[in-house]
Amino acid sequence: MRPRTGPTSESVSSLLVDLDEQERETIELRLERWSDDLVDALAVLYPGHDVSALTLRLVESAIAGFRAREPELRHLDQRRLLRPDWLQQPDMLGYACYTERFADTLAGIPSRLPYLRDLGVTYLHLMPLLQPREGDNDGGYAVQDYRTVRADLGDVDDLRELTRTLRGHGVSLVLDLVLNHVAREHEWARRARAGESHYRDYFHVFSDREMPNAYESTLPEVFPDFAPGNFTWDAELDGWVWTTFNEWQWDLNWANPDVLVELADVVLYLANLGVEVLRLDAIAFTWKRLGTNCQNQPEVHAITQALRTVARIAAPALAFKAEAIVGPRDLVQYLGQGRHSGRVSDLAYHNSLMVQVWSMLATGSTLLAKQALRSLPTTPPSGTWICYIRCHDDIGWAIDDGDAAAVGLNGWEHRRFLSDWYAGDFPGSWARGLVFQHNPATGDKRISGTAAALVGLSDAPDADAEGAALARLFLAHAIVAGWGGIPVVWSGDELGLPNDPHWADEPGHEDDNRWAHRERIDWTEAALSRDPGTRAGRVFQGLAHLARVRAGLPQLHASGTTDVVADTEDGVLAVRRGHPSGPMVCVYNVTGEWRHVSLDLFRGAGIRQPADAIGGHAVYAGADGQVALSPYAAWWVIETA
Ligand code: GLC
Ligand code: GLC
Repeated sequence: MRPRTGPTSESVSSLLVDLDEQERETIELRLERWSDDLVDALAVLYPGHDVSALTLRLVESAIAGFRAREPELRHLDQRRLLRPDWLQQPDMLGYACYTERFADTLAGIPSRLPYLRDLGVTYLHLMPLLQPREGDNDGGYAVQDYRTVRADLGDVDDLRELTRTLRGHGVSLVLDLVLNHVAREHEWARRARAGESHYRDYFHVFSDREMPNAYESTLPEVFPDFAPGNFTWDAELDGWVWTTFNEWQWDLNWANPDVLVELADVVLYLANLGVEVLRLDAIAFTWKRLGTNCQNQPEVHAITQALRTVARIAAPALAFKAEAIVGPRDLVQYLGQGRHSGRVSDLAYHNSLMVQVWSMLATGSTLLAKQALRSLPTTPPSGTWICYIRCHDDIGWAIDDGDAAAVGLNGWEHRRFLSDWYAGDFPGSWARGLVFQHNPATGDKRISGTAAALVGLSDAPDADAEGAALARLFLAHAIVAGWGGIPVVWSGDELGLPNDPHWADEPGHEDDNRWAHRERIDWTEAALSRDPGTRAGRVFQGLAHLARVRAGLPQLHASGTTDVVADTEDGVLAVRRGHPSGPMVCVYNVTGEWRHVSLDLFRGAGIRQPADAIGGHAVYAGADGQVALSPYAAWWVIETA
């Protein structure tokens, strides 16, 4: 059935003429399934436009993408369609790194596969590797050409070859789709600067300060230190151009349908290279609305829905991951709520969980975490969280003032405390993080640092301190790995690497201390990963163990429910997993002291003979029915086998 505003069946049929019968059937079935979603998204985005003509343009792109798709990738499409929950399997484990800091070049990655497989990795996120602008480029997030690979890493053929090799080893490649902005040197921006009005309309350009001032009255600043403000004067444009991030990252004007059509083509191009997941970089910022902070606008979800629909028609193996590092109330929308449920990103970063992990470790209290995590709306069963303790970016303290107030905290003061704690500026702090982008106007301070630096491992003064830091690190990883999404490890954290002391030496990096936690892997040191007598070996083997245990627990399939238990004693976080395969309760002691949980916690969940799957031991209660949890204990409790 063709929707009323969609393209007519005649106009679509004319696009299918040279497909063979089986291909035509495939496309027709997919159009039948997806056209409504596409039309629906376009109607939200472009009410004043001819939605039917626009739909046809995108369907045309999708069919061209399908046509160009290699047999091997079409085969992958079939496999994924037969297992739509492939990303939700408990054996998924992610690893994220910069190609050059991990393996020099794309061609060097396969020789590192044994290392990744030892860790249990099935999902590899290589940081931006498409042609960036020359000079400073925000770690590749200022793309000059979406269809060329950075020359020092290889070329497009190397990328295609790599995705094939990875696939052969059961590893899916994840790449960024930087879609909020392009580099000032991108062809569209260049042509806009050269005076072509068609391309000027790809950006938000204002001839004077009137509109920029109006927008700025409600806009926050992402990089107040090195890129204050949200607009940049460009003499060639003779105007102010919207630049949320750096002045050479020009925000695209998604209210212009041509931008959507261009990016849809980029999506299909990358899918046809064998990329399996696209990380939608800074997606929250893509739609602007006067009088708001221009983040998380409803249209953002319609953009995802439109792009995803096009991908589903041409390359259904491709999944989307939303990078929206936003407050807890806005976060869940990215996995689809209301009309977008099941229609937007398959994956999204659980920024709120990440923040709460650090907050629990610093305070030894679970009150705020319980409050915040319990008040998150439910996610659609098809939506999967990326669970991580840190990534290549700084940590911003996304704590809701209402959640803080509900447990007697002042949100602002708590955020300030966390910054001070993790910068090592608070009495008693073990942490060695760095302050990122202190904004004196708002008091906002974010934090850079490796996981080891943040848990106090890097500068641990003695064996006890080192033991406690290792326990905190393992605990943090266990909390995210036991949540039920895809745990993703940032490169270097599997070895417990400290901050890079030379981070500022590279030209262009000196003002951006996020480079302190984007370490290079030294392969002599990495060889220690096999030796449990070393620090690197202990961290690596601990993580690999978690991944192995996880892979054997169907309860951690991401479609299950995650339910934080309210009435545990402070310092204990208990998380109940709901899955038909059987009950599971994860319990964590976030303090350096003994804590207790009641045996009824497990009994009530239906576990008669509880055992911890991580430690492989039975769980016993004392005469009072209480189970003692050692300092920083992390248990995944299931029925004894
Ligand atoms: C994302 C990236 C970050 C980058 C920004 C601009 O949030 O993770 O590293 O600075 O987008 O592209
Ligand atoms: C992102 C995030 C922000 C982060 C920044 C760059 O888009 O929203 O939290 O700090 O980019 O680091």
